Amino acid sequence: MKDANFLKENNARHLWHPMAHPADSLANPPDIIVDGEGVRIRDIDGNTVIDAVGGLWNVNLGYSCDPIKQAITAQLDRLPYYSIFRGTTNDLVIELSWMLREFFAPDGLSRAFFTSGGSDGVEIALRLARQYHKIRGEAGRVKFLSLKKGYHGTHTLGASVNGNANFRTQYEPLMPGCYHIPAPYTYRNPFGESDPARLAQLCLAALEDEIAFQDPATIAAMIMEPVLGAGGVIPPHESFMPGVREICARHGILLIADEVITGYGRTGAWTGARRFGVQPDMAVTAKAITNGYFPFGAVMIGDAVAEVFEADTTGRAAIGSGYTYSGHPVGAAAAIACLRETLRLGVKDNAADRGAQLYAGLQGLKAAHPGIVGDVRGGYGLMCALELVADPDSKAPIDKRAIARVHRATYEAGVMVRVSGPNVILSPPLVLTEADVAAIVAALDIGLAAGVAA
Ligand SMILES: Cc1ncc(COP(=O)(O)O)c(C=O)c1O
Repeated sequence: MKDANFLKENNARHLWHPMAHPADSLANPPDIIVDGEGVRIRDIDGNTVIDAVGGLWNVNLGYSCDPIKQAITAQLDRLPYYSIFRGTTNDLVIELSWMLREFFAPDGLSRAFFTSGGSDGVEIALRLARQYHKIRGEAGRVKFLSLKKGYHGTHTLGASVNGNANFRTQYEPLMPGCYHIPAPYTYRNPFGESDPARLAQLCLAALEDEIAFQDPATIAAMIMEPVLGAGGVIPPHESFMPGVREICARHGILLIADEVITGYGRTGAWTGARRFGVQPDMAVTAKAITNGYFPFGAVMIGDAVAEVFEADTTGRAAIGSGYTYSGHPVGAAAAIACLRETLRLGVKDNAADRGAQLYAGLQGLKAAHPGIVGDVRGGYGLMCALELVADPDSKAPIDKRAIARVHRATYEAGVMVRVSGPNVILSPPLVLTEADVAAIVAALDIGLAAGVAA
C-alpha cells in the first residue's frame, strides 16, 4: 500500500466518487478507510469507529466473517471464473439456486436470475416483467409504476422508476412510461396527513387512480421497496404493502419487491415482503447476499411468472438479458457461505431487537434536540433515520454545513453515519451489540449538539 501522505495527497484527485460532486470531493476529501473488524472500521489516521452505515447497507455480518472469506479464497484457487450463459454453468451457482429456493419459499419465489448487484437486478426484473406479458399475449403492458422517494439504482430503467430528483434530473430524458405514486411519508406528503394508517389509504387510492388513468392493460409492473431505504428510511403502515399487493393482483400488474436493502434480515424478518405478509411476483436482492464481500445479486422469480416462461413454446421466453458476471462462481461461493452464516446466526432477530433499541434511542435524541431533529423514522429492524431541520415549525431543511458538522462530530465521537440530503441514515451491521447501539446514540447526541452550535 502507498504511504499515508501519498494517499491523502491524491485523495479524490484522480477518481470521481459516485453520488458526489467532484469539486466537493476535492474540497472535503473523503475519509480513507483501511481496516475493518467486527462492526468497526479504521481510517488511515488510526481512528476506529463503529460503522453505523454497515458498508452501504450490505455488511450485515460485519467485517470479520471468516467463512465467507475462506469460501472466496478457496473458489479463487479452484475456478476463479466461468460464465453461465447458455451452454455452461458452474457447480456452486446450482447449489446456491437450490439454497435460495429454500430461503425464499415462504415468499413464493423459486427461481433465481443472478446479477452483479442491485441496479443490474432492477433492470432484469423490469425487463422480465415486460417479457412475461409479451409471452402471455399482452404486449401492450409496458409501463411501470413506483413510489416517489423510492430508490432502484442508477441504470436508466431503474433511474426512470426512481422517486428522487437527485438521481434523475441531470440524466433526463429518462424512459417513457414510468409513473410515480406518493410515498407513505408521514412527515411530508401532498395530503397533509400525518396518521400512518390514513396516509397509507390515501396513497393506495392514488395508486388506484393512476392505474385507472393509465389503463391497467398498459401497465407491466409496480416496483417498490417494502420499507423505503435510501430515500430517507420511510416506514410504511402495515396495511400499505398488502394494499399494493391486492390492487396489483386485481389489475394483472406484477409486483416487484426491491429487497436490495431489506432482504436477508434487515427489517427483522428474512424479507421485507414477508414482514408485511406479502408474496411478490419477483424480488430483487443483492448487497447482503454476500455481506458486501463480492459484487453479486439474485432476482428471485415467483412460481406463476416462472411457469409462463418455462411453458412457452413460441421462443418468446428466451431471455435476452444477462451479465458477464451473472452467476460468478466466486460470488456464488461467497453467497452460499453468507447465507449459511446469516441463517446460523439468525441475524433477523438481533436486527429486530437492536433496531427497537436504536429507534427508542433516536426518539430520546429528538426529545433532547428538538430544535434540529424534525422526524425520527424506524420501527422495522435496523433501518432508521433522523430528518434534520433548520426550524421544526416550518420544517425548513437543515443547511448542508450544519449537517456536515453533525456528521463530523459524530465521527469524532466514534461512529460513522451516513448523511443523505437532510437525513442521517443508520443501517449498521445486523450483528452489533446492545453496547454498540448505546455508543451510536451517545455519539449522535454529541453530533447533534455540534449541528446546532453555530
Ligand atoms: C432498494 C435499492 N435498489 C437498488 C439499489 C442499487 O443497488 P446497487 O448499488 O448494488 O446497484 C440500491 C442501492 O442502494 C437500493 O437500495
